[in-house]
Amino acid sequence: MSAKLFLTCTVLLGTLTWSADGFLFDILSGGTSSSGGSCPLFLCLNLCPAGYVLNSNGCPTCICKPVTKSAFCPFLFCGKKCIFGYQSDADGCYVCDCAGTDVVGVCPTVTCAACPSGYEINDNGCQSCTCKPATAPVLHESLKPIAWMLGKWTTTTGLAQFPTMKDFVYKEDIEFFHVGQSNLQFTFASFNPVTNAPMHREAGFIKVKPGTNIVAMAASHNRGVVDIEEGVYTENQITLQSTKIADISFVIPPTVTELRRRYTLIGDRMEKVVDLGTSRTPTQFHLRGQFDRVV
Ligand code: HEM
Repeated sequence: MSAKLFLTCTVLLGTLTWSADGFLFDILSGGTSSSGGSCPLFLCLNLCPAGYVLNSNGCPTCICKPVTKSAFCPFLFCGKKCIFGYQSDADGCYVCDCAGTDVVGVCPTVTCAACPSGYEINDNGCQSCTCKPATAPVLHESLKPIAWMLGKWTTTTGLAQFPTMKDFVYKEDIEFFHVGQSNLQFTFASFNPVTNAPMHREAGFIKVKPGTNIVAMAASHNRGVVDIEEGVYTENQITLQSTKIADISFVIPPTVTELRRRYTLIGDRMEKVVDLGTSRTPTQFHLRGQFDRVV
């Protein structure tokens, strides 16, 4: 270890101390804690080139962090007050840049819970852990041609038919939404209109192949089926045809063999038509629902 030579002088704000290693620090400190709050002023006569140990509030104590730097490092004059210590160069010697710190103009690194809209800035101009108010995500360019689908919809009329069952009137709630990514997310939830018992349900994503009119859907159904459908969009319609279907191992027969869907905007209303093919019945009409927007 090199011998340390100290030179002390008094200035208005407090006592500044230089050592032979060239560290300068202000014995009156305060400022911002490592978590973004404010720290009280404190008086500390310790020379701490590696910075100070922080207390549970993220504020510096007067205890020095251990020094691990080489005795052969060049003499460093540095006018910065670095309560978290200095950065090191490739040789392991301190340089006149504060380490992740709290020097005026340099913000501490803070770790906060996720905020989708980012964080508020505190009075010191540094990031706080307060979330900015949520702003609506911007619709991805590729989804603009099918943006009319966005929102919540509910049936005015819904009719399910199939040769293996009696005609059945149903209710369905649909939501198409996005989070700024290149996909529309959806949930479909149908109900018995008399008992309100939940019936067929789906969730999934719709994507548009950029620069084309090709649209694709990945849907997961409550009966243990997942399917991929592809098709095209026009100004007010998307049509889809299944390309891949997979069942869970204990799906209840009959299994789905084909699906075709058509969503059409007619005035302010959306119409949904689904054709179904199963392992027992050739593909044919299964559903027609007309939907109004839920405001
Ligand atoms: C794309 C979505 C749908 C698929 C893949 C699908 C598939 C099926 C299948 C495979 C059956 C069995 C048919 C048979 O036994 O021969 C069925 C029956 C039925 N579906 Fe759908 N369905 C869908 C949407 C809906 C919706 C939204 C409703 C509205 C409530 C609905 C109501 C019914 C009813 C009432 C039956 C007869 C009773 C039953 O088996 O649960 N389906 N569906």
